[in-house]
Amino acid sequence: MSPDIPNAPPPSEVTVRASSGSYRIDIAWGAAGSLASLLDAADLPARRFVVSNSVVWRLHGALFEDVSSDEPILLPDGERFKNVGTVGRIYDALARASADRATTIVAIGGGVLGDIAGFAAATYLRGVPIAHVPTTLLAQVDSAIGGKVGVNHALGKNLIGAFHQPRLVVVDPALLGTLPRREFRAGLYEVVKYGVIASRPLFDRVAATLPALFAREPEPLSAVVTECCRIKADVVERDERETGPRRALNFGHTVGHALEAVTKYRRFRHGEAVGYGMLAASELAVSRGTLDDTDRRALAALITKMGPLPPIGDLSAAEILEATTRDKKVIAGRLHFVLPAGIGATTTATDVSQEELLHAVTSIGARGAPAPQAS
Ligand SMILES: NC(=O)c1ccc[n+]([C@@H]2O[C@H](COP(=O)([O-])OP(=O)(O)OC[C@H]3O[C@@H](n4cnc5c(N)ncnc54)[C@H](O)[C@@H]3O)[C@@H](O)[C@H]2O)c1
Ligand SMILES: [Zn+2]
Repeated sequence: MSPDIPNAPPPSEVTVRASSGSYRIDIAWGAAGSLASLLDAADLPARRFVVSNSVVWRLHGALFEDVSSDEPILLPDGERFKNVGTVGRIYDALARASADRATTIVAIGGGVLGDIAGFAAATYLRGVPIAHVPTTLLAQVDSAIGGKVGVNHALGKNLIGAFHQPRLVVVDPALLGTLPRREFRAGLYEVVKYGVIASRPLFDRVAATLPALFAREPEPLSAVVTECCRIKADVVERDERETGPRRALNFGHTVGHALEAVTKYRRFRHGEAVGYGMLAASELAVSRGTLDDTDRRALAALITKMGPLPPIGDLSAAEILEATTRDKKVIAGRLHFVLPAGIGATTTATDVSQEELLHAVTSIGARGAPAPQAS
């Protein structure tokens, strides 16, 4: 399936063996240009509906003109549109076009678009096939793989959702060429996460090729994206419904989600909050003795090298702590905290005390308890 692009890195294929059936992740520089034939090769129903958003379509729509003769369903861009109302727009378009079960949804966009289109695919006619064409780094290495789909509710993020595995994922790292640097970096924190939880070589490779990655050079970028897809696929396979090993993917996410929540999802890109979360978790791991300080310093150095994170000095550590207690990872009243056990391995702790967490959160720069007022 190698697209004919001179000097393109060799394509790779990763298979995800899910209970609903196996599917392929086709990873190739320039793969987007052959999407129609890739969908055919995967035996996906020939009536196809492209779902994308206005930004992505303006930049890359021309590549996908031969995918469907129906008009693309274009959604407004942004996390604030990730809600049931927007899902309704997809149902409307599908129903108006009399789309039946022999329909494929082709989701072309970042994680927001993929989650919305995925939820529509999971529920329209109780489920129709979907193929994901992720266009952000975060979506390529994370959200397009594994079948978690859903939307936000006014009272909480991702409150409404389903598991609906795709039938095909087409990953074209060349699409990342237009991604704003901050979005790219946000995805890169998740890449670093994979390194810490599962692969020292990946971690080292990111550290060694950072400028080339930011320059979106085909060779290093394709290698890193492919390795992340392998790790995600492997974890998903072992634990499709997130009851065991998949939880390792939450490394950095307990504090990360809390930071996003206390700033009402406005200050941080998700990956940036995870960047802080990984620093806090590794601080905690060092105090517990599961991680060497050398490894903590290597992670901190890499995160610093990646560029500036939004400030957190004004955020109250107590409020951040309070927000962690509302995390979805609280199981039977206990927070399941993923801690690094070196670079490339994790362990889970269910007995992290408030004091430990407070220490970790202030160590990354959040404001501690105010000093007692002098009388
Ligand atoms: N389902 C899962 O397993 C899973 C996992 C992680 C995150 N998520 C979800 O993913 C969402 C975040 O996804 P995201 O970080 O991709 O953000 P996003 O989808 O909002 O994309 C970021 C921005 O980049 C634009 N964009 C997309 N592709 C582009 C390209 N190639 N060039 C230029 N601009 C482009 C988008 O239109 C958007 O403005 C969150 O809603 C989160 O909950 C889901
Ligand atoms: Zn994440």
